Amino acid sequence: MTERELKPLGSFTQAERDAVYRAIYERRDVRGEFLDREVPRELIHRIISAAHHAPSVGLMQPWNFILIRNIETRERVQAAFKRAAALEEQEIADEKRALYRNLKLEGILRAPLNICVTCDRARFGATGLGRTLQPDTDLFSTACAVQNLWLAARAEGVGVGWVSILRPDEVKAILEIPERIVLIAYLCVGFIEQSYDRPELEVKHWAERLPLEEMIYEERWGLSAAQRSGAP
Ligand SMILES: Cc1cc2nc3c(=O)[nH]c(=O)nc-3n(C[C@H](O)[C@H](O)[C@H](O)COP(=O)(O)O)c2cc1C
Repeated sequence: MTERELKPLGSFTQAERDAVYRAIYERRDVRGEFLDREVPRELIHRIISAAHHAPSVGLMQPWNFILIRNIETRERVQAAFKRAAALEEQEIADEKRALYRNLKLEGILRAPLNICVTCDRARFGATGLGRTLQPDTDLFSTACAVQNLWLAARAEGVGVGWVSILRPDEVKAILEIPERIVLIAYLCVGFIEQSYDRPELEVKHWAERLPLEEMIYEERWGLSAAQRSGAP
């Protein structure tokens, strides 16, 4: 890479900027709205290519993508989900348990395609640029890839639902994922025509989006802009 390879940065038109923010704000976690329509291979390739262009520590690209269409495989994953949800339910506060039970928390069979995203922690050896002191950055990189996929899918009219209510070892056994590979995301993927305009968990009174202003500090932990300017 030489400086001669640097190119002038093209600017986005207002419409292009709007489209980027639209994809971000309209991306939803989808569980129940999948259409029973096959997702074309080229489209799947486009959204996975978006994932593959995510940032990664040391350009490690530790991800792999397993495309799962087989119904028996998905039934086994869904059975694993049910076991995991029964376990998680016990951990939920008494007053929220009934609500938890009524939430839709996966679309494993409703979606025609599932994608399992994994992280190979030793892709270029045990350590590497950027991981000596922060070894988990390979996991973070793979999460960045998932987000790219999620946003690209929104732009394509494809919904994505992330299912983490699963024992990683069970999913790894079903998909024959080697021991050294880490399961990052199990995604349900399919066309959608409708979605919520805010998180389904907010609509169903599980949780609410927190006020952004309370999350931004200035110069050091805990100091909000209001405190900094001396406002009461
Ligand atoms: C790492 C991760 C794991 C998640 N696991 C689940 C899950 O198991 N089941 C589920 O229904 N939603 C799951 N979600 C979706 C979140 O509930 C959802 O992103 C959040 O409520 C905000 O809604 P939105 O994505 O529609 O904006 C997961 C999201 C992330 C980022």
